[in-house]
This record gives sequence, C-alpha cells and structure tokens, in this order.
Amino acid sequence: MQIEDFKKAVGKFPTGVCVITTSFNDILWGFTANSFVSVSLAPPLVSFCLNKEAGSFKAFVGSKHFAVNILASDQQEIAKQFSHSLSNKFVNVDYKLSAELQTPLISGVTSLIECKKFKEFECGDHFVFIGEVVRINVDESKAPLLYFAKSYREMK
Ligand SMILES: Cc1cc2nc3c(=O)[nH]c(=O)nc-3n(C[C@H](O)[C@H](O)[C@H](O)COP(=O)(O)O)c2cc1C
Repeated sequence: MQIEDFKKAVGKFPTGVCVITTSFNDILWGFTANSFVSVSLAPPLVSFCLNKEAGSFKAFVGSKHFAVNILASDQQEIAKQFSHSLSNKFVNVDYKLSAELQTPLISGVTSLIECKKFKEFECGDHFVFIGEVVRINVDESKAPLLYFAKSYREMK
C-alpha cells in the first residue's frame, strides 16, 4: 500500500473542522484538527490525535486541559491560520480565556467543549489525547465548517 493511496482513502471520510487549544507556560497554543471524535458518554470523553513533530506537541503533553473549538462555516480563515506553525497563531482571532483553566476559547464557533486531560498515549507517529468534558457551549444558529478530500466545504 502506498501512503498517498492511504491518504486518499481516509480523505473520502468527510469531517468537521476544529481548533484544539490550550495554555501552557503562559503561552497560548492551538492547531487545526479533524481527528476529533467523541469516545464515551459515561464519563463524557472526547479524543484527538496530534503529530509528535507538531510545534504544539510538547505544550499539549505538558498541559492538563484543552478545549475543542468546533468551527463555523464562516471560519475557514481561522482553520487556515491554525494549520500552519506560526509564532502567534491567535493574532486577529477573537477569543477569551476560560475562568477556571485559562484555556483559549474562540468566539463565533458552533460548539465549545472544555476538557480536563484524562489520558494520552503514543500511537505511531501521533499521540492520542483523551479529555473528560467539563463544560460545553453550543450555538444552534451556526452551521459547521466541513473538510473533505483536502478541501474546506460548507453544508448545502
Ligand atoms: C483540515 C485539517 C485537519 C488537520 N488535522 C490534524 C490532526 O487531527 N492532527 C494533527 O496532528 N494535525 C492535523 N492537521 C495539521 C495541523 O493543523 C498542522 O500541522 C499545524 O501546523 C500544527 O500546528 P503546530 O505545528 O503549531 O502544532 C490538520 C490540518 C488541516 C488543514
């Protein structure tokens, strides 16, 4: 099997797009992800996968909390901004810090899911991070941003 065929095959699975954020050592961190998935209802658990080579990897390993910011259809620019390794990814992004955990929460998203880290483990060239959901906020008026076959899409 060629790696490009593998990428093409999994790229046929449409997903939403989120930015996973945290704060660690007084710095804000975040990256665009589509590996987000819900894992368990009792307790409520979610997961995401992060490449071990990512600039934010050490921060997510060191931090005890993260937030899943599920992007709205008009937030494609935010998705692009957080999919590159930049020194300050939060420039021109409207966000606030959560009171308890100081996690960056992006404004205008469809859903915010705040988590305390539950577990993490190495899996190939990625780590799987599992979080226990401590707080959620949903904006029912927003449509989600989608990703399919290497392109951002909007719900029709
Ligand atoms: C739609 C989309 C989804 C992505 N999903 C993931 C993911 O789930 N895990 C991951 O490690 N990288 C993912 N990436 C790549 C990261 O966003 C990218 O490598 C980013 O630069 C990482 O930021 P950092 O190097 O500052 O940590 C995705 C990129 C895009 C465009």
